[in-house]
Amino acid sequence: MTATQDRATSSSPTTHQGVLDFVAEVAALTQPDRVHWCTGSDEEWGEITDALVATGTFTRLDPALKPNSFHAASDPTDVARVEDRTYICSVAERDAGPTNNWMDPREMKDIMRGLYAGSMRGRTMYVIPFVMGHLDAEKPMFGVEVTDSAYVTASMRVMARMGTDVLRRMEETGAEFVHAVHSVGHPLEAGQDDVAWPCNDTKYIVQFPEERAIWSYGSGYGGNALLGKKCYALRIASAMARDEGWLAEHMLILKLTSPQGSVKYVAAAFPSACGKTNLAMLEPTIPGWKVETLGDDIAWMRIGDDGRLWAVNPEFGFFGVAPGTNRHTNPHAMRTIDKGNSVFTNVALTEDGDVWWEGLENPPARATSWKGEEWTPESDFPSSHPNSRYCTPIKQCDILAPEYDDPRGVPIDAILFGGRRKTTVPLVFEARDWAHGTFLGATLSSETTAAATGAVGVVRRDPMAMLPFIGYNAGDYLGHWIDVGKQNDAAKLPRIFYVNWFRRDDEGGFLWPGFGENSRVLKWVVERIEGTAAAEETPIGHVPAPGSLDVDGLDLTDDDLARALAVDPDEWRAEVPQIQEWFEKFGDDLPAVLWTELDTLKARLDDA
Ligand code: GTP
Ligand code: MN
Ligand code: MN
Repeated sequence: MTATQDRATSSSPTTHQGVLDFVAEVAALTQPDRVHWCTGSDEEWGEITDALVATGTFTRLDPALKPNSFHAASDPTDVARVEDRTYICSVAERDAGPTNNWMDPREMKDIMRGLYAGSMRGRTMYVIPFVMGHLDAEKPMFGVEVTDSAYVTASMRVMARMGTDVLRRMEETGAEFVHAVHSVGHPLEAGQDDVAWPCNDTKYIVQFPEERAIWSYGSGYGGNALLGKKCYALRIASAMARDEGWLAEHMLILKLTSPQGSVKYVAAAFPSACGKTNLAMLEPTIPGWKVETLGDDIAWMRIGDDGRLWAVNPEFGFFGVAPGTNRHTNPHAMRTIDKGNSVFTNVALTEDGDVWWEGLENPPARATSWKGEEWTPESDFPSSHPNSRYCTPIKQCDILAPEYDDPRGVPIDAILFGGRRKTTVPLVFEARDWAHGTFLGATLSSETTAAATGAVGVVRRDPMAMLPFIGYNAGDYLGHWIDVGKQNDAAKLPRIFYVNWFRRDDEGGFLWPGFGENSRVLKWVVERIEGTAAAEETPIGHVPAPGSLDVDGLDLTDDDLARALAVDPDEWRAEVPQIQEWFEKFGDDLPAVLWTELDTLKARLDDA
């Protein structure tokens, strides 16, 4: 039996009436030539990737180098998340404010129905039943994405648990699911040739939080089109989490084992392209310490029966930034992709059928750039887009912690917030308590990167690294964080820290070597939790006391270390009006505690 069916065929691919109705409704609107119900099988992967090679979307890499792996180059205009085209269409405008774009859901649906009408003509509509998190979770978090993109379908198989097993489980319980619609917005008339990367200049990435629905149009880029990831696991899930008392966060999860065998679990929120994937797979430079990976981008966290905060990674793959990834900065990511079964988008393609990007070892003598240009190391343009990505199965990661397969997740001991700041923010400091930690998260600042379209290098506030992903009112979101602290036993909650790997010296170089050396900061975090590392109180929180950060064997001058750790009251006084301006955006929706925290910071700086 084939899973591909003509619209006219009547045999039912599922007994789940809700799924049938949803698929029928989208098909009637978008008018695909065919509907394909995804099984998730290896044969299906073979068929879809072969078809992508045939249409020129994929180039198969040399199987001896990267088995079962593919190169893809997007349209040059479709390379990142489009935040200005992303909407939270809650019923009330207030529920999307003040950080999200909003439109009345009825108005938005009118516009989008117009765009979707006939938008899949000439194409196959793929139906992807998927689950974010474990199929064996107490309450599995189902979704169905219908898409007219084979690229998205292949990528979804890497990034989420999907296919027949998921659909069967949904049928058994008649489960509810997130309705996710995606179209590249590039219908084909009879006889019209397809392009390698179909997309549309008009783009909409729309979440309807009350309905738990996602409508995406015009883009094939991962964050806009793999709807299980940012759209569901962060935007829609954050709204669910608000209603149900848990947290959906833009955080990596790692397991850290000390030389004495004591285990700690750490979650960390850094904005896009600020080091989550790298930290999640860190190779410690200090002897005897071990890091294992649980997740590199998203954490769902809930308070367990024991009062601790338990985290799971709802994803099934890594969608990592390629440039800068190499055998020194992230050896485990390199070993993960070397095993194959991966998709590389917007990197360079070498003549011997491999991929290359800026920062990878051994530049090829020549290659084809992501834009299809002839490239050599002498070229005055980059071979790869700065937001080019590898998409690879998490199960291939050789340091994946066994707890990844436990639906209960892991109890988090420490939460790190961090961003890219050239100045002001020290390498590491610790919050005084949960409310202060929430203040640090709420005021998290970072210089913008290429992961979203727009200017790069501008300092913006990015609360908990969730600015583009909060699916409801951001003031309520911060209030929800405060409530988690109030409603639970503070002693059992994770301790909160703030880190900055990106502080610069006067010549513009990084003060801190970063990457594997960040294990020294993790060690200090563990020792703070265990009560063995000394800290100095400053107006902003607790920084490492001299000598408490292990710098044994590190090639760093005392002067540079002091500058990396320094808290300069003048720099922080300059920060205060910026935080004030940021908080004022929230009006009455900002939890009053956060104003109190700002007053405390001001008072402490006055005394400094
Ligand atoms: P998203 O996947 O977009 O959410 O981003 P991410 O947080 O996973 O970012 P990622 O780990 O891919 O890091 C992106 C960039 O940060 C790369 O250019 C890295 O080289 C750089 N980076 C990561 N860790 C460090 C570090 O410790 N020091 C320095 N200087 N750069 C780092
Ligand atoms: Mn991310
Ligand atoms: Mn990442």
